[in-house]
Amino acid sequence: MHDLPFREDVHVLIEGLNRLGVTTMVTAERDESLATPAHERFVFDTIIELRREEHKRRVERRLTVAKSRGQDFIGGSHTMRIEAHQGVHVYRRAQSRPKLLDDQPTSNQRISTGAPAIDVLMDGGLYEGSVTMVSGISGTGKTVLSVQFLTAAAQAGRKTLLVTLDEHPRQLIRNAASLGFDLQGMIDRGELFLLYESPLELELDVHFDYVTSLVEREGIDCIVFDSVAVYELASRHEVADFLYAVATYFKNRLATVFFNYESPELLGVSQISEELKGSHLVDNIILLSYVEISTVLRRAIAIPKVRGSRIQQVTREYIIATGGVALLEDDASDAHNANAVPQLPFSAYSSLLSRSPTRHSPAIEVAVAQGEALPSSVAQAVEDPT
Ligand SMILES: Nc1ncnc2c1ncn2[C@@H]1O[C@H](COP(=O)(O)OP(=O)(O)O)[C@@H](O)[C@H]1O
Ligand SMILES: [Mg+2]
Repeated sequence: MHDLPFREDVHVLIEGLNRLGVTTMVTAERDESLATPAHERFVFDTIIELRREEHKRRVERRLTVAKSRGQDFIGGSHTMRIEAHQGVHVYRRAQSRPKLLDDQPTSNQRISTGAPAIDVLMDGGLYEGSVTMVSGISGTGKTVLSVQFLTAAAQAGRKTLLVTLDEHPRQLIRNAASLGFDLQGMIDRGELFLLYESPLELELDVHFDYVTSLVEREGIDCIVFDSVAVYELASRHEVADFLYAVATYFKNRLATVFFNYESPELLGVSQISEELKGSHLVDNIILLSYVEISTVLRRAIAIPKVRGSRIQQVTREYIIATGGVALLEDDASDAHNANAVPQLPFSAYSSLLSRSPTRHSPAIEVAVAQGEALPSSVAQAVEDPT
């Protein structure tokens, strides 16, 4: 292989075939590459490089077009698989979607989150074509809110997709049914598609191709990714670019997207930008958290960001029950209290999301300053500070 006469023979052979108008493909092992020296690369019109990479004991194949004369090509390293009945299948680098529209479509139309009280907090709901990050630790209700959102969207005649990476579809359908959502019925009617992939075998380029093919084939315009933390598991250093590509793709289609984000711990609002990968590409942020008050964990929702809307910067209490996430009226949270600890509405506290709730109520201050009677719920708690 390395002797010069042989290489010159190959050179002459290829040039001869070329003159005859024959399309020729030459393969070479990388080590003993015919293609490496510059004068030999010159012989070839197109050079494609294949590699195998080991990735946490999993083998991934990569394909790169190094050159191709007279035509444009998408650079970078794409994912390649060898699939039964198909041979080589190349999944292009998700970040490299070629058709970036000059003009991103925008809409003034609003879509319900599925929870009317949350829509009110967001000044009328989600803009069509917006990207919403729903953040909260495990069990705060990200999946429940997503099911609620997609159910409302389907009822409004939209086609929906839930990319479920945390939970198997069977379990998801069962859990949703316990809250009164009929996902199976929606699937049967073609209103909802579930895409499940095991996080362990997930390759981002392949996954992107599955999602976009399904979206284009079915004309889907409301999508939930539950949750994007899994992408971090699959490919830590690529996840920000990947999410950016996903967000751009859906914005160009004017589709409305939820990225559910399982935050590693209860986050305060100030930490959120650091923690969320690619938070700049997110239009809306919904924070779900637990707040410990006395000995009781209560659920708190805050919406620190809604692009293009006036929002109410308040932390509200919510419950999860039949019908999904429901916000409590701020003066009514005593009502659901079934235990001995006196519970005040959230408006009686400050710094709820910083995990150090402080009773620092304007209502109390005003009452004290003006020598008036304390609000009844407060007076009760003061008398009986269990
Ligand atoms: N049928 C139900 N009745 C009451 N609460 C429920 C029911 N199903 C789920 N929940 C509540 O919802 C929570 C799970 O919400 P989920 O959306 O799965 O959380 P996340 O996706 O954020 O991890 C459970 O911890 C439970 O408190
Ligand atoms: Mg979940």
